[in-house]
Amino acid sequence: MASDIHHPAGHGPASVVFESVSKRYPDGTVGVDSIDLECEAGKVTVFVGPSGCGKTTSLRMINRMITPTSGRILIGGRNASDLDEGTLRRGIGYVIQNAGLFPHRTIADNIATVPVLLGTKPRVARLQAIELMERVGLDPALGRKYPYQLSGGQQQRVGVARALAADPPVLLMDEPFSAVDPVVRLDLQNELLRLQRDIGKTIVFVTHDMDEAVRLADRIVVFQRGGTIAQADTPERLLTEPVNAFVRDFTGDSGIKWLSLMSTSGIEPRTERVVYGAGTFSELDQWRLQVDDDGQALGWLRPGATAGDELVPCRRTFVLGVDVMRSALDSALLSPVGQAVATDSSHRVLGLVDFPSLEPAINNHRSRVHA
Ligand SMILES: Nc1ncnc2c1ncn2[C@@H]1O[C@H](COP(=O)(O)OP(=O)(O)OP(=O)(O)O)[C@@H](O)[C@H]1O
Ligand SMILES: [Mg+2]
Repeated sequence: MASDIHHPAGHGPASVVFESVSKRYPDGTVGVDSIDLECEAGKVTVFVGPSGCGKTTSLRMINRMITPTSGRILIGGRNASDLDEGTLRRGIGYVIQNAGLFPHRTIADNIATVPVLLGTKPRVARLQAIELMERVGLDPALGRKYPYQLSGGQQQRVGVARALAADPPVLLMDEPFSAVDPVVRLDLQNELLRLQRDIGKTIVFVTHDMDEAVRLADRIVVFQRGGTIAQADTPERLLTEPVNAFVRDFTGDSGIKWLSLMSTSGIEPRTERVVYGAGTFSELDQWRLQVDDDGQALGWLRPGATAGDELVPCRRTFVLGVDVMRSALDSALLSPVGQAVATDSSHRVLGLVDFPSLEPAINNHRSRVHA
């Protein structure tokens, strides 16, 4: 494949390095003031900070939609300003708020746009578009529709699919999920994390939402007024060791955010209250979770229930060791008995975790944060 021509750094993810980069706009406004930063290859770097502090300017300098006034940006070790502007821009995926889809093109054609520009046959590009739709969790049947016929969340997924279509080494995302409601937003975040586990792109992501930053980031960069960087660190370090009061205030109460960081891998689910298969009991003394022969949760059996009685739906489960503590807590709170349902990655039930046994782990972390 001739993708070296199209991709600024050839195959695989590329690091993005800012070296003393500044942007002064023609009217004299300093958008970005001499930043030094490395966005590691294959990792998610998230830019946060108050409005007007230079996040979008920094992002757009990466694909040269904005030209730095001074300093340089290296992509995969190569100076971005030495690369052909058009191919550079097409070789870097770009996702914005409201997806920015072409309204008069079908979904499949939207996704196929850049590959076709780069010389892929339209028929082939459309087939690839269908594949990409599946990857981002969209029904391929939507390929024939137009953007206005899709929900905000679906449009955002199309935006991600379109950005991935040229298999770019770098993906830029400027507040991509901020126009959708919180539930859809959570879905989109989880989908992006799942996708990133497969594709391992270098992602630079801008958000105003610290929870989103903590959930997605390998590294968070806090910008401050004047277009400088206050702190660039892992989410853990940022929350536990903010370098100054500005960062501490900006990152806010970290207690809740910790739940989005904490792993569930140490939890030991218990199976006493799980009923495998149907009809293996006479009458129950307490709530139990019924599971089918394949281990999938069927629902909760009330105390006093006998085989065949109606089940109370199991509204939320969490994948042990994959989902974070916050998911476990949600699962416990949404169950009728305060029991979180732990599964493996194929959604087979591993057992139950009660609320009191989640608490010590959480308190332990909270005291570390607030010490
Ligand atoms: N074309 C332009 N001409 C002049 N000034 C600009 C231009 N674009 C941006 N600026 C200014 O540069 C600064 C940084 O803007 P930028 O868009 O990078 O901020 P941001 O951090 O993305 O803000 P937001 O969170 O509101 O999106 C702001 O003061 C802005 O007003
Ligand atoms: Mg912006």
